[in-house]
Amino acid sequence: MNLFAGLEEIVRENEPMAKHTWFRLGGPARYFARPRTEEELRQIARRCHENSVRMYVLGRGSNILVPDAGVSGVVVQMYYKHFGNVSIAGETVRAQAGASLSQLVRRTAQAGLSGMECLVGIPGTAGGAVKINAGGRFGDIGSVIRSVRVMDSSGYEFERQRDDIYFGYRMTNIIAKFILGAEFTLVPDDPERIGRMIREVWVLKKNSQPMNSRNAGCVFKNPRALSAGALIDKVGLKGHHIGGAFVSEKHANFIEARDDATSKDVLQLVEYVRQRVRDRFDVDLEMELDIWQ
Ligand code: EPU
Repeated sequence: MNLFAGLEEIVRENEPMAKHTWFRLGGPARYFARPRTEEELRQIARRCHENSVRMYVLGRGSNILVPDAGVSGVVVQMYYKHFGNVSIAGETVRAQAGASLSQLVRRTAQAGLSGMECLVGIPGTAGGAVKINAGGRFGDIGSVIRSVRVMDSSGYEFERQRDDIYFGYRMTNIIAKFILGAEFTLVPDDPERIGRMIREVWVLKKNSQPMNSRNAGCVFKNPRALSAGALIDKVGLKGHHIGGAFVSEKHANFIEARDDATSKDVLQLVEYVRQRVRDRFDVDLEMELDIWQ
């Protein structure tokens, strides 16, 4: 492991990615690193940069598909045990990248701070959520962000202010490789009211989306003014399967994996669904799921 000499405590070799994704699919990562500090993260980033080794950033694996053959570079996990701190001071909330979004929603609600209710039921980490401006029908994380701390792939750290970030639909213009953490500004409100809102959003999600299966959330983005789920449903693809991957019966924009599923099954099903929607509606569905190659 010359590449990571001196960092053996935090770098594993040939780590099965199925252990780290919500799909529970995916072959081995050639290297898998869990830095404990920003300095260790910088070391890893610099060595990869100097040796042209590809880096993949992992949060909780709730929005990714890793190929059956795995990936040949380094997967760097912003692990909650090392990068999971959340602190609240007045109306300001700070979260490190590895903090779970659900913890963030719970902690801010308990503190009587409003602004994150819309994120209830979204899995994943604060870092992943910031990177893609996670959200749903009731709002997104971008609307409460004040600033974001990032590190680029050469290990250089800097802060980006809200005014300088573009928050789009499931995307931002943050291109730095690593989100280190973010600061949020919330609004004091009645904890009872916040709790009611959270329950309302939660119930809506629970009734319309598969919750206890192997899936990675919505597979496609909604095309402008349309719903990907409704289009796939109209084509009649609910329940359609390829190998062990099938289109959810509950929400057609979800793909669920059975025990015998492979990443290849999911990929083939994604292509099949796209083709059928293109043929019928002349609409090109864009990926929301992050497919690693
Ligand atoms: N619909 C169908 N059939 C289906 C699924 C949906 O006809 O199988 C219809 C619904 O009846 C509704 C419309 O399509 O009229 C929209 O569906 P829904 O309300 O479930 O919302 P969505 O647009 O499919 C979006 C986000 C979700 C988020 C929900 C709720 C996208 C791609 N999806 O779903 O986000 O949870 O709103 O806020 O933007 C995700 O990002 O992974 C995700 C699941």
